[in-house]
Amino acid sequence: MAPAASKPPDPQIRQRAAQLREQIHYHNYRYYVLDAPEISDAEFDRLMEELQRLEEQYPELVTPDSPTQRVGAPPLEKFETVTHRIPMLSLENAFSEGETREFQQRLQRFLRTEEQFDYVVEPKMDGVAVELVYENGQLQVGSTRGDGWRGENVTQNLKTIRTIPLVLLKSGEPIPARLEVRGEVYIERADFKKLNEQRLAQGEQPFANPRNAAAGSLRQLDSSITAQRPLNIFCYGVGEVSGHEFASHWEILQQLAAWGLRTNPYIEQVTGIDAAIAYHHRLEQQRPALPYEIDGVVIKVNSIALQERLGIKARSPRWALAYKFAATQATTRVREIRVNVGRTGAVTPTALMDPVEVGGVTVSRATLHNEDEVRRKDVRAGDWVLIQRAGDVIPEVVMVIKERRPEHTVPFEMPTHCPVCGTKLVRPAGEAVTRCPNPDCVAVLKRSIRHFASKGAMDIDGLGEKIVDQLVDNGLIQNLSDMYSLTEADLIPLERFAEKSAQNIIAAIQGRKRVSLARFIYALGIRYVGEATAQLLAQHFQSLEALKQASEAELLQVEGVGPQVAASIRDYFRNPRNLRLLDELQAAGLEIETPERPAKLPLAGKTFVFTGGLEKYSRDEAKALVVARGGKVSSAVSAKTDYVVVGSEPGSKYAKAQALGVTILDEAAFEALLRRSV
Ligand code: IVH
Repeated sequence: MAPAASKPPDPQIRQRAAQLREQIHYHNYRYYVLDAPEISDAEFDRLMEELQRLEEQYPELVTPDSPTQRVGAPPLEKFETVTHRIPMLSLENAFSEGETREFQQRLQRFLRTEEQFDYVVEPKMDGVAVELVYENGQLQVGSTRGDGWRGENVTQNLKTIRTIPLVLLKSGEPIPARLEVRGEVYIERADFKKLNEQRLAQGEQPFANPRNAAAGSLRQLDSSITAQRPLNIFCYGVGEVSGHEFASHWEILQQLAAWGLRTNPYIEQVTGIDAAIAYHHRLEQQRPALPYEIDGVVIKVNSIALQERLGIKARSPRWALAYKFAATQATTRVREIRVNVGRTGAVTPTALMDPVEVGGVTVSRATLHNEDEVRRKDVRAGDWVLIQRAGDVIPEVVMVIKERRPEHTVPFEMPTHCPVCGTKLVRPAGEAVTRCPNPDCVAVLKRSIRHFASKGAMDIDGLGEKIVDQLVDNGLIQNLSDMYSLTEADLIPLERFAEKSAQNIIAAIQGRKRVSLARFIYALGIRYVGEATAQLLAQHFQSLEALKQASEAELLQVEGVGPQVAASIRDYFRNPRNLRLLDELQAAGLEIETPERPAKLPLAGKTFVFTGGLEKYSRDEAKALVVARGGKVSSAVSAKTDYVVVGSEPGSKYAKAQALGVTILDEAAFEALLRRSV
């Protein structure tokens, strides 16, 4: 601190300091509370610098409410205890519409009335409750709720929060000699994330959630640490207010805002419990988009006269209710840690867990981000973990509950090779992300998923390109069989997904688990095995098992299967990855129907000749489609030919067919015949 000036400041300087303090408080309020600054940051800094200069020159000008005093108090040895003049009560909880209606019925019984009440409905902030005591408009003491009766004096820490006015603004209403304000100190989700990243970078333990971070920050003995934490406040009520009568809770909130205190913009006034319930549902929808965490809504009887008649129960007022949302954290057990490969090749360890309900949806997988994260959290298969699904964020493992760790678990090891394509994985020095360097890897996967879901295959509606990209890019599908364990909760966080569309896709996937053998063989995407060949194979082998076991020679016996196709089929069923996939698909509950061997195939005894190019089918496919229906394909037209199928630029066979009077089919007629012949 600069040495004290030898002579006291003259009245003009004193006045200037007061003026600066007032201006700075006002602009602080515009900037932090209203989020609507009237001057530039540079102008603000100039005011602040001028005040600092004056205070340095004349230390007697420093007042406790000076904006320069937000930071810089010496660290404390311990917190003093503060007794709340009016206890800081808690709230009764409700978890359902029914319980919420019962709340209103209780009020009606108590007041012997049938009437509906006016309520103020508010987001229930998930933070730390505090009390701010203003005397003649100046912040004197700030404390935590503690046990409701006594809390800790955290004034120095609360003063570091820019949205807490050190001096109340003058509104039309006179400022009470004593005003106790109650509110919730919290940290926004994005700030919390940054804070935890910083802590990790500095080798410190991250906080489990924003509430813990806010509580930890408020309990720092050194307020210069608190000053670096992104704390914020919403005020939602009052304790003792001297010389000021309020008619309604709404009026209290309006007045607090007028005095420069920050109130939540989502607070509303409603009439009747139905409207309060509707507000709960609306806010639950908005919850993921809010920048901070809320864990429900608070419903408060608006009239202060009624509040007084209703009074309090043991620890909570009879006139208020917390209607909670479904919890966003839950504990469950990790079955397996799998690694998923995203579009960029990033390899993400993912915990597959016993399904558990979090935030109203069932979750069975959670991201573990990367190798270092798994190491740091030391998540192992078999562990009990705390997981969290905050809004639109993909569920994540917060921490392992080490006390519940079973014996013989082993630390996670990142695989050395890509689980999708087998390419050796790389992790560039200094990077957290492990990648599969094979550029084809995921593209193949995406294509195979789309094929698997396509019309002629599993016929799963809604798995279009964009959605498949999202599923793969977010690591949700790494393997075809993964699609059967997808849950709505997996999809909702993705862009473009609303609850309804997520439901539809899950229903489409699950609703197509029974499938014909032919479709299934085609769905596998075996090279050279189109729809028609798949049908032939299904007819011939009658079961997947028989096809799996078939030798090349056996395959060649199938009409329409040549050496290339046979080799490809054999290769497919020799690849252990494919065999594992088949097992997984069956384990996922896929049911493959055995084809009925028709007594007589529809095109039995019919001979076809093809000439010219078809648009939709290759020559091989067209042949296979005929053969699958019992027909024969010949290369030359004769009097015995039943049909000549004519494509573009037909050859001499066309003329011959005309000469012989053989039935001529164009592509459309051929297709129509096929459709009739199933
Ligand atoms: S009113 C007498 N309003 O919830 C009423 N509390 O379970 C007391 N909270 O300790 C509180 N948002 O920390 C009220 N809009 C809100 C709230 C809120 C969060 C917290 C507060 C309180 C706890 C009670």
